[in-house]
Amino acid sequence: MKKEARVIKLISEKRIKKRVKELAEEISRDYKGKNPVLIGVLKGSFVFFADLIRNLKIPVTCDFISIASYGKETKTSGKIKLEKDLRESLSGKDVLIIEDIVDTGLSLSYLLKYLTKKRPKSLAICALLDKPARRKLKIKIDYIGFKVPNKFVVGYGIDYNEKFRSLPYIGYVKD
Ligand code: IMP
Ligand code: MG
Repeated sequence: MKKEARVIKLISEKRIKKRVKELAEEISRDYKGKNPVLIGVLKGSFVFFADLIRNLKIPVTCDFISIASYGKETKTSGKIKLEKDLRESLSGKDVLIIEDIVDTGLSLSYLLKYLTKKRPKSLAICALLDKPARRKLKIKIDYIGFKVPNKFVVGYGIDYNEKFRSLPYIGYVKD
């Protein structure tokens, strides 16, 4: 018999709400007087993105990008492909990437390289979750919501085979 995957709660809805507010306050302070472009990395960041922008005290514009990784995840050379490009130009703009989780760092390093070519005035990263245990490439994350253990996490927009995105909390999958 096939067992259903269970989700063990790691970070409650209340803790997420509080931390998202804190991150938004920090970003609002750092970008005071500016009008940054926030780039949500689809799909995993969409819930975080929506909550974050509603707590900001500065004007922002929003854009979205989607990337997919191919090849075995154990390989450092995991290939990454752009699935959906941006709509707006980034030239001369302050750009803040909004990511769900940084694991090996391959996706973000690809994104940083890609977005740097678009000549933004500044480029920074805000990630809801940081899973440092499996990092392969060193990445400077400017804003981090929570550090998580080396588990497969889901919820609050983050999926496991497209499941669990709608959970209001963050947990890990146990099957
Ligand atoms: P990285 O390129 O290894 O840093 O992985 C980045 C992407 O892989 C994240 O943006 C997620 O979309 C996905 N990912 C990494 N770890 C997890 C996890 O624990 N749960 C769900 N998705 C994950
Ligand atoms: Mg992602």
